[in-house]
Amino acid sequence: AEKAIVEKAILEQLESKEEISNSGDFATCNGYDHEEIKNITRSLHGFQLVDAQEIKKEIWELTNEGKTYAENGSPEFHLFLAVPPEGGISTDILKKKFDNKVYNIACIAAKKNEWLELGKEQVSRKVQSVEDSVRDLLLQIKDGKIISSKDIKELKRRKLIELKTWNGYSIRKGPKFSLERKKLVSVFTREHLLRGEWKNLEFKKYNFDANALPPSGGHLHPLLKVRERIRNIFITMGFKEMQTNNYVESSFWNFDALFQPQQHPARDSHDTFFLEAPSTTLSLPESYLDKYEWKREEAEKNVFRTHTTAVTARVLYSLAQQRPFTPQRYFSIDRVFRNEAVDRTHLAEFHQIEGVICDRGLTLADLMQVLQDFFKKMGMSNLKFKATCNPYTEPSMEIYSYHEGLKKWVEIGNSGMFRPEMLRPMGFPEDVTAIAWGLSLERPTMILYGIDNIRDLFGPKVDLSLIKRNPICKLGM
Ligand code: PHE
Repeated sequence: AEKAIVEKAILEQLESKEEISNSGDFATCNGYDHEEIKNITRSLHGFQLVDAQEIKKEIWELTNEGKTYAENGSPEFHLFLAVPPEGGISTDILKKKFDNKVYNIACIAAKKNEWLELGKEQVSRKVQSVEDSVRDLLLQIKDGKIISSKDIKELKRRKLIELKTWNGYSIRKGPKFSLERKKLVSVFTREHLLRGEWKNLEFKKYNFDANALPPSGGHLHPLLKVRERIRNIFITMGFKEMQTNNYVESSFWNFDALFQPQQHPARDSHDTFFLEAPSTTLSLPESYLDKYEWKREEAEKNVFRTHTTAVTARVLYSLAQQRPFTPQRYFSIDRVFRNEAVDRTHLAEFHQIEGVICDRGLTLADLMQVLQDFFKKMGMSNLKFKATCNPYTEPSMEIYSYHEGLKKWVEIGNSGMFRPEMLRPMGFPEDVTAIAWGLSLERPTMILYGIDNIRDLFGPKVDLSLIKRNPICKLGM
């Protein structure tokens, strides 16, 4: 029956009879599905139209085997009937009339009941007539009648019945009883106020336990989540974000300004993506360029920037043009490109995090301290430094952190003091120094999210449902 009809039947029954003492009986009498009655009752109870008390009963139900016996009779009864009243029957012939399993069951019961004489060769009746009491008992149980505990025990032993919990409701009128559900108002409007309707309205209660719909779009990629965290670390340390929205960079800013020789292997097409169109840059800072004795055509070649330090060079140059000089802290987190073979730890495009401080008289000790502060906020407090070589920094240090999970030192970044050969041509005063460091965004993200193949993090193989489900990350601060 339709839900509304069943609901109406319940409410009308309560209106005329005050009570439905057993929802199960009510369902049977009216030909409704009891499960549906129960569902509607719960809902009506929730809105206080009715007051429902749960009733629970343990009842015996027929098993599948029990159901067959109740319908067709017990095996022992059939076995008895198959034995002629006079003279009996040969055991072999009798056996052939039954399924093996049924025959065995029947023999045990018939013997126990002393109905048959089961000889090796011959089977004969011991009594002239029998009653199929097992079938009778099963039919009684089916009708909900009560039988003796001795009989219950026997039927249960033969696995013909089993105990099931039955539940239903006894239903009375609730505090808000009415023959129809009142429509609850969920949006309060200006009209409700103006017409004075608010006095009689009933409002739908907020359900603070309801789950909101999962948003269908707008999921942040883990890289974006980690980037946001790292951005916040830089900002709390007083760093300003550099503008990095140029993937294409001239070789001048990517290499030359960074004191990287024009014949340096990194400037080879094996390591760097060169652009075909436009293959060269439109403008270079002429007065700055004058200070170099390099081939201009090499400096003009457009590349996909190979590191964010290209941006740092631009920003430092523009800082160097300002008078008076003011100390600055800058950072950037953005994409870079390398012409590399892709494997589980390398991609041809990835992200770099870079921090720079420009001030008078900075030393390597300042760099080490700022690195300690920065990485501590990222949850890495155990650092080691190892001397290395960069074209644009001297001294330079690789940064290692002790990885508690891997129980070893892992390289997490590169750093150094920018060379005077780089800073002086930019136009900085003699005593101005700059310290900087860089690291990839992918490395800490993979550690935080437990991803061991970079292609699962970035690129066409990324599992979109993982992006939807991944949690907000927490850096150890
Ligand atoms: N640019 C370097 C790299 O690509 C990182 C770096 C940045 C090193 C700043 C020193 C100073 O690995």
